[in-house]
Amino acid sequence: IRTRVAIVGAGPAGLILSHLLADAGIESVVIDQRSRAEIETTIRAGILEQGTVDLLTAIDPGTRVHTVGQRHDGIELRFQGEGHRIDFPGLVGRSVWLYPQHEALKDLLALRLSQGQDLRFGATAVRVEGVDTATPQVSGTDADGAEFVIDAEFVVGADGSRSVVRQAVAGSSRDGHFREYPFAWFGILCEAPPSAHELIYSNSDDGFALISQRSPEVQRMYFQCDPDADPNALSEAEIWETLQRRVPGTTLTEGRIFQRDVLRFRSFVAHELRHGRAALVGDAAHTVPPTGAKGMNLAVADVIILARALEALLVRNDERLIDAYAETALRRIWKAQHFSWWMTSMLHVAPGTSDFDRLRQIGELRSVVESEAGRTFLAEAYTGWPVES
Ligand code: DHB
Repeated sequence: IRTRVAIVGAGPAGLILSHLLADAGIESVVIDQRSRAEIETTIRAGILEQGTVDLLTAIDPGTRVHTVGQRHDGIELRFQGEGHRIDFPGLVGRSVWLYPQHEALKDLLALRLSQGQDLRFGATAVRVEGVDTATPQVSGTDADGAEFVIDAEFVVGADGSRSVVRQAVAGSSRDGHFREYPFAWFGILCEAPPSAHELIYSNSDDGFALISQRSPEVQRMYFQCDPDADPNALSEAEIWETLQRRVPGTTLTEGRIFQRDVLRFRSFVAHELRHGRAALVGDAAHTVPPTGAKGMNLAVADVIILARALEALLVRNDERLIDAYAETALRRIWKAQHFSWWMTSMLHVAPGTSDFDRLRQIGELRSVVESEAGRTFLAEAYTGWPVES
């Protein structure tokens, strides 16, 4: 297989990149080890920044983000049983959209396939070689077990936190800046009407809970749990009791729980985002804890920066933007790392927290919600900073 850019991973990053490259007249091949059905049904993030929605709309005026998705003009921070609304348009003139990632992926897959994108499911990348030459290669195994080799001019790792491309870029697949957290999220999907019309991020003495939504009939909720928790160990009644206790002041509308999972928390930034003719985007380059919903949005921002750099390199033979890719992307990545860490540490109650730290945390939450500067800082980050040029 011969192409100009080999993209490993058909998540939001890989698919959007293939689109932006096609717009610039650059041909690519996208491979993913998963099946199309698996990509379209795996439950992931739910919140899109204004800039992400603007991009999805520009590349696909038919995107269902405006019909199936819902605009949210604020969130509520709750602590000591009281809610405090952060009004996004009033503070920063922007909003966010609740639109599940797998719905965005259905739109993007249909769009790319209708435009003739070479997109191969069930194709596993095994090795990336030659990134120090002008003709890097990706080799692997396709859905039928047959071996393939892609000869390209550039290789992009959009292949998630267990990236295969990372090895060729960062030297080792684990080389990076790390932080672990002493808690995780227990997530559920349930059949019930919404319990609130906006998201509630609730800090309570028992720990954190997040009340999110998916649709008028399906709701997504999370509560802080032990990282080693077994998602099947709790009864439905125990799950509801935990959630209710952590959102004092609101009575949640209960319903049948049809999915449960435990999401581990980790902050990670690879030491290198680009080496020769290979680069990393999205979760292959970095991971953020979920609080604040930065993961997918950060992947989209990486892709915008990389697409410009690849256009300069492959159309105009200008290496300046690709040489600056890592530094440019890292400015936003570290802001998002800080925001995700800050929202996490401000809202969760770490096991063994001292009285001092618990009371300091309430002081921190008050200093955000009682100050326009504090609310504006949160709203700017949550709705998304402008993409670096
Ligand atoms: C959701 C996930 C998040 O991490 C977040 O901050 C907000 C919402 C969600 O899955 O709905």
